[in-house]
Order: sequence, then structure tokens, then C-alpha cells
Amino acid sequence: MYDSIKKYRFGKPIQTNAVTYEIALSTGEPDYIQISENKKTIEYKMGRNDKIYGLGEAVRGINKRGWIYESYCNDDPLHTETKRSLYGAHPFIIVDGENVFGLFTDYPDKVVFDIGYTDIDTISVTVGSPDYDLYIIFGDTPYDIVKAFRKLIGKSYTAPFWSFGFQQSRWSYYTSKDVQSVIDGYRDNDFPIDAVYLDIDYMESFKDFTVSEERFPEFDSFVKEAVQQNIHLVPIIDAGVKIEDGYTIYDEGKEKGYFCKDDKGKDFVAAVWPGKVCFPDFLNDSAAAWFGSKYKYLIDKGIDGFWNDMNEPAIFYSENRLEKALCKISSYKGKNIGIYDFFGLKDTVLGLSNSGEDYSAMYHNINGESVCHDRVHNLYGYKMTTSASNAFKEIAPDKNILLFSRASYIGMHRYSGIWMGDNQSWWSHIKLNLQMLPSLNMCGFLYSGADLTGFGDNCTEELALRWLALGIFTPLMRNHSALGTRDQEYYRFKNTEVFRNILKLRYALIPYIYSEFMKAVENDDMLFKPLAFVYRGDKLAEAVEDQLIFGDNMMIAPVYEPNALGRYVYIPEDMCAVRFRSETDFTFTDYTKGHYFVEIPCDEVVVFIRKNTLIPLISSAPSTAQLDYSTMKFIGKITAPYVYTVIKEKGILNGISHTEKTNYRIIPDNDTCVYNNYTIE
Ligand code: GLC
Repeated sequence: MYDSIKKYRFGKPIQTNAVTYEIALSTGEPDYIQISENKKTIEYKMGRNDKIYGLGEAVRGINKRGWIYESYCNDDPLHTETKRSLYGAHPFIIVDGENVFGLFTDYPDKVVFDIGYTDIDTISVTVGSPDYDLYIIFGDTPYDIVKAFRKLIGKSYTAPFWSFGFQQSRWSYYTSKDVQSVIDGYRDNDFPIDAVYLDIDYMESFKDFTVSEERFPEFDSFVKEAVQQNIHLVPIIDAGVKIEDGYTIYDEGKEKGYFCKDDKGKDFVAAVWPGKVCFPDFLNDSAAAWFGSKYKYLIDKGIDGFWNDMNEPAIFYSENRLEKALCKISSYKGKNIGIYDFFGLKDTVLGLSNSGEDYSAMYHNINGESVCHDRVHNLYGYKMTTSASNAFKEIAPDKNILLFSRASYIGMHRYSGIWMGDNQSWWSHIKLNLQMLPSLNMCGFLYSGADLTGFGDNCTEELALRWLALGIFTPLMRNHSALGTRDQEYYRFKNTEVFRNILKLRYALIPYIYSEFMKAVENDDMLFKPLAFVYRGDKLAEAVEDQLIFGDNMMIAPVYEPNALGRYVYIPEDMCAVRFRSETDFTFTDYTKGHYFVEIPCDEVVVFIRKNTLIPLISSAPSTAQLDYSTMKFIGKITAPYVYTVIKEKGILNGISHTEKTNYRIIPDNDTCVYNNYTIE
């Protein structure tokens, strides 16, 4: 597999730890691409119908052609199609045309991917300084290239079994009573649920590794009581550490010199939720180990899941630039502000956040060398997350602690999952969610999902339902929304029964979801595949951008438009559609290859099972811990004996889930699509 990869080195690259396998350096001219004399630009002339895949977390379709993207961790909550970057930086693309190859530009600052934007036929990949490793991956198909790339970058993170259950979050659960009322809301309404999230409000003045005693009194018992109700509480950890004398984390970090510096060697000061903060220098190994050890405070209280946030790092403003901005703003006082001054004023304020100027003024200590943040920007969130992951193995080797992050780089998929950040309650974001899943999988991020119901803005009941019909398939299935939006917990909508049925269906499908997830981890495979990867050569399948092959046996085709009676679906081979009204009420329809309009009312979930395969289904339970695998049955249509391997979490060793595989053999029976009988091999 590694023979199909060539590695070239230019200049003196900063080591990113993205790959796990050392490839010998190649010399000479690389195949297919042209590299500019200064080595900063790579060009490729695309054929008319070439498709370009990859880029992980990015806007637009599965085929990335026709836009300019930046691989640059960016805190931007408006994921419109004109954006160039989101939170994760995943500089890997695949060209699928006359030549088929992958290109991974291992460079930890901004990489610009102009894919037919400036010149409709040209890909040009540009880095800021000519210091990077370039990997060219060869293969017969894009799918082969993904597998080779995934082998190169190492096995994906295995999230704990419970985190495949449904999880509820919201920014503004202010007190333990608020959290308890959400737990009760779900439990009293007989909805299954496994986790409730603690956003920044659980902390004391937004200080990491503190819990507000006033709002969350007796936190330890609160966590324990939640555990007794089979609820995991998952607190957020932010990158910025509040500047406050007497706050241990700040005092220690300051004293040990563990914060990022400015160009004068003083602690770099910026502001995030708590006001002024310092940023732990995660690129400094000792600082990273120190910060990681602090998770113990919450783990000791019974916490076994975390989400790392604001780690691009997000900056509201820096002390220096705020000063300048305030001066500028006061200069407008008394003026008759016309068009240019007005826009100048506006830009001064809006330009305060997440500014490149601030990143250029921040410094890291990497093995004793002072390195400007600009050179390593995309590693910051990654290193925050490895700092936690490494610490977990020491603090709690007998637990597989859930961990996911907002910012990421290639390689971080070995340590955690990611979520897709601050999306909106927009119909277009169901589609974006769908299209991002396979692209993330190409880069190794298997445990991921979007904020179901949308983070910003208000979600309607119809949008919540349609999104849920996709969300029940994403490994991270979390309903999260922002402060100030309408209440969006599923039990709050009018048709509670429909929401309940769909949530229960998720739990009934967990044996399939978890087994296929674990198979994808083991085989460096994708959990969500574009049809183009599976039905290569079928022009109609290759054109499909809004359906996915989920695991090996199922196709999903969610509705992502309002007021839809259903949608057009391309059936790429003979399939058996299962129309679920609930986990126990479902019907089957046979489809032969072709295009169809499939009616999909809001209260139903329709999936398509490949002929001669089956999927397992069990009885749902209030939580993953209560699932009973002896209720297993299989559904679908087979004409020959079929064996399905179910993977279950058996235990945790060194923080990693160990699994048990059971082969279920099912004998065909023409009269049925539901198999209660099987033999276990
Ligand atoms: C960021 C996160 C979001 C969180 C909010 C408050 O915007 O992306 O998920 O709710 O911060 O912590």
C-alpha cells in the first residue's frame, strides 16, 4: 500500500505528526503536477470532467471543483457557500480524471486550494513559505487513494459505545436544575438519551476546570446521579485561560511560562468568553502535558466526555488591537460620517476578531525555539486535543473518554472526533452536513456530526425532523443550539411521538451503526461513501451529490428541502427500501436500478438496503447501556445464506474500546424480509 505513495520534501517543514508511517523521500520531478520555481505553488491542469474530492471540513459539495478554499482553522459561524475555510484544516485532495491521484500538502499554516476559481481548468495549491512535505498518492480509483491515505495517517479514533447514543446540548443550561429538567424532559417523555452537555455556563466566570458552586452545587453528586440515570454529562473546555490572580490554572501557567508569548516575550493577551485570557502553548510539550493533566479535576468527579472548543484559537480581540481600534473609533467622534468612514468604522469593529495580525503577534516555544504562531496555526487545536487525549491515558486508563474538538488538522483523527461547529437552522445546512460527512471520512474523521436543529437561528419542527432523519445515522448525534434561540430539545415540539419514534429507531439501529463504524476504523475505510466511490463507471451514480452509502449495506437519501412530499432518489443497483414509521412498524418495497420519486413524509425514515445483504435491528432502550442484543433480528432481502458481523464494545484497555465480534448466519426465506432466526458462528 505504501508503495503507492511518494513523498517530496521542500525546505525545512515543521513536523505536524499528521502521518504515522515514514515514507522515504523521493527526488526528481513529481508525476502529473508542476511545481513553481519558488516551490510555493503546485499546479495541475484538470480535464473537462475531472472531479476533485477531499478537503474534509469545507463548504460546498462532495466534488470540490469550482471554488477557492483555504485550509486554515477559522472560527466563522456563517457557513455560506462563499466561505473559504471552516474550523478544520484538511489539506488533502483527490483528482479523479484521466489521472487519478491524491495530494496531501503537509503544511501547518494556510494552504490555498484554488480549484478552478481563478482559471476554470486549473488547480493551484499555494503555501505561504516553501517548507512542506508533499505526498502524492497513486491508485486506480479515488476510493483506493482514500484507503492508502488513511493507512498513511493512522487509525481513526474509536469513540466509546455510549457516545453512539443520542446527546442533547444547548448553550444556556445555566444551572444543574436546568440540566436536570432536560434529562427529565427526555426521560419523562420516554425518549432515549445518553448524554447532556455542559456548555460554558457550568464554569465559574468561564474559567476552565472550575465549576460554579452557586449554579452547580454538589457537582460530584450531581454527576453521580446523572450516571445512575444512564446520563453522561459532557463539559466544554475552552482554549483561553482567564487572566485572574489567584485562579490556579492561570497562576501556574504564568509562573511556568506555559502561555503563548508576544514578540517581546510577554504573555500574549487576547479576549474570549471570560474577557482577557492567555493561551496555553500546546505546541510546547511540557505546557501541553500540564494543561492535559488538569482534566483530572473533572474526571475525578465522574466526567467521562469532553468537547474542546474555541481552539483555532478563536480571538474576540487582542489587547493591542483593541487599543488601536478604540483610538480610531474615538477619532470619528463629532465627524459627519459618510460612506467610507462608516464602512471604515464598521470594519474596525468587525475586524477585531480572529485577525491574522493577532496570529502573527503570537509566539510558541517549540523545543526551546520561539516560533511565530503563523507558521503553526493549524496545529493549535490539534495539539490541545492530543494534550487531553494523552493525559486521559494516564488519568483514567480504564475508561474510554469521549473527546471531540472544533479545530483540527490531519492526524487529529487518531485522538478524537470533531463536530462541524456553529452551523445554522437552515435547510441548506442539512445538505452541507450530508456532503461534509464523506469528505471528513476521507481525512480519517469518522466520529463526527453537526449540531442537529442548527446552532444559530430558530429551528422549525419540520426542519428538526428532516435533520433528525439524517442525524440518526451520524456517529456523533447531538442536538445543540445557541443562547437566545428558541428551545429546540426534541420533546418540546408538538409531535412528540414522531420525534420519539425516530430517536428510538436510532437506538434500534445501533448494532449496525456501531459495527460499521468499527469496521471502518479497522479497515481504514469510510463510513459514509459517495455513490461515485461505490458505483464507479455508472455515470448517473457518479453525479449523485445528495445520497450516501452508509456502511456496506445501506444507502441514505435524506430530504433537505422544506414542504417536500419526498425526493428524487437514484437507485444504483437493486435495493430494498425500508420505510420506518417506528422501530417496529416498517414496510419493504423493492426497487430496481433507476431514478424514482420516493415519497417520504416527515414522520417516516426511508433507507435503502442493498440486495443480498441484511442489517441488524434490535429493540430500542432508554440508553445504550440498556440495549439488549438478544433482541436482534435482521431485515432486508437475501437469496443466499448471509453472514453479518456484529461488533460490540467488550471493555476498555489503555483508554481504547476493545470489541467482540459475533458472526450471525442467516438462511434466506422467500416469504420474509424480517429474520428472527439465525445461527451464531
Ligand atoms: C462556540 C461553540 C458552540 C458553543 C459556544 C459557547 O460558539 O462552537 O458550540 O455553544 O461557543 O460555548
